Amino acid sequence: MPAILEIKNLDKHFGGIHVTNRVNIDFKKGEMSAIIGPNGAGKTTLFNLISGFIPSDDGAVVYEGQDITKARPESIVKLGMVRAFQVASVFLEESVFDNIYLASLAHFQKNGKIFINKMVFKDAREHAEFILNKIGLYNCKDLKASELSHGDMKVLDIAIALTLQPKILLLDEPTAGMAPDERIKMMGLLKELHEFFQLTTIFIEHDMDMVFGIAEIIRVLVQGQLIAEGPPDYIRQHETVIEAYLGKEVL
Ligand SMILES: Nc1ncnc2c1ncn2[C@@H]1O[C@H](COP(=O)(O)OP(=O)(O)OP(=O)(O)O)[C@@H](O)[C@H]1O
Ligand SMILES: [Mg+2]
Repeated sequence: MPAILEIKNLDKHFGGIHVTNRVNIDFKKGEMSAIIGPNGAGKTTLFNLISGFIPSDDGAVVYEGQDITKARPESIVKLGMVRAFQVASVFLEESVFDNIYLASLAHFQKNGKIFINKMVFKDAREHAEFILNKIGLYNCKDLKASELSHGDMKVLDIAIALTLQPKILLLDEPTAGMAPDERIKMMGLLKELHEFFQLTTIFIEHDMDMVFGIAEIIRVLVQGQLIAEGPPDYIRQHETVIEAYLGKEVL
């Protein structure tokens, strides 16, 4: 499989801290991969760099062969790389359905015209209903978003990301703060969505059950450096990774 996203020699400093240290990664199309590493290793910063939220000091980000190193976050979303878990994108006072519908409407109404063709409403509604069913929130569709559990709020956030029809889905700690049963549900859901929508999924996670349970490739960042990458069985027994992060308990 070709690389859908290439990170080339990416570099970033914050003051005196080298948060992204000459990182090179090829993300293959259709791959489900995890980024792991200690707190402060630079995982979220890497997402911020590739999704255009912050500028890099050096290096390049190439998406489907196109250099997007200096592209704005909105353009990157339009190209198909979407980040979930920006809970800020949820309207708490609106219903679950309306949240998905509004995102869908914005997506179908891409051309920025003031007068919306009737078909756009219809398409957006059908698309929203489809996503709602797929994500498993149908029974909560009339609840206000603020009434959702912490876990379902995160699911809603993924639903909103999916309305944008992404090719690459970036998830920063999808199970953070979740109860064990919610984590298991999230793990199953992400695997199902990944396959159904033929996504390239990249998730940052501290929950090793989830990482070793669903990632095909695991990449390990320590102090801004990519210290290892490979399938779960390789990472599990990687000496440096064990020393720097995993410890002995997951062996
Ligand atoms: N905007 C910023 N300005 C200054 N320093 C920052 C900024 N964002 C992150 N940092 C610093 O960069 C380093 C990497 O932070 P980052 O949030 O990328 O880590 P992380 O791997 O996502 O950690 P965690 O697992 O705790 O989420 C940390 O030392 C952090 O304090
Ligand atoms: Mg982080």
